Amino acid sequence: MNRHTYRQVLGHFATGVVIVTAATVPGPVGLSINSFTAVSLEPPLVGFFPAVTSRSWPAIEQVGAFCVNMLGVDQEPLAHRFAGAVADRFAGVGWRPAPMSTAPVLDGVIAWIDCALESVSPAGDHLFVTGRVTAAGLRAENDPLVFAHGRYRRLAPDGWGGPDGSGFADG
Ligand SMILES: Cc1cc2nc3c(=O)[nH]c(=O)nc-3n(C[C@H](O)[C@H](O)[C@H](O)COP(=O)(O)O)c2cc1C
Repeated sequence: MNRHTYRQVLGHFATGVVIVTAATVPGPVGLSINSFTAVSLEPPLVGFFPAVTSRSWPAIEQVGAFCVNMLGVDQEPLAHRFAGAVADRFAGVGWRPAPMSTAPVLDGVIAWIDCALESVSPAGDHLFVTGRVTAAGLRAENDPLVFAHGRYRRLAPDGWGGPDGSGFADG
């Protein structure tokens, strides 16, 4: 299979964007993730896939708890910041500690999920990580930030069904 085609095909799958944070002894860590997914309702499990090259993951694993921050549509700069090579990703970023893990809940996120690390499995050049949900909450009422085709997107307003507005309804 052609590698470019493979990446292009995967890029057609739209996701949200989260920042996974943890409270480590030297200070907070966090990274942007779009491979987040709900896994199980009972017990409540969520998951994501950090790259084996992630520098933040070993610190998060050591702590054994993390918080998933769901980004709102206006938080593209945060997504960019937590994927980049800035010296301190948290500089100038407001946050408060999540109730169980004390990992950062970033200001302005639409929702957060506090987790205890449940499992880590090898998955090629990534790891499959699951977390058991220990607390969760809603924050800002806003649309989610969407990532598709390698770019940040906004959800279209409800009812939009095509350039002519005719929709795709049957009949
Ligand atoms: C929208 C978006 C989604 C991302 N999703 C993932 C992901 O699912 N897994 C991953 O390992 N890296 C992902 N990244 C890349 C990491 O955020 C980036 O490599 C970061 O520098 C890793 O930080 P770390 O080395 O401190 O762990 C994503 C980046 C962006 C901008």
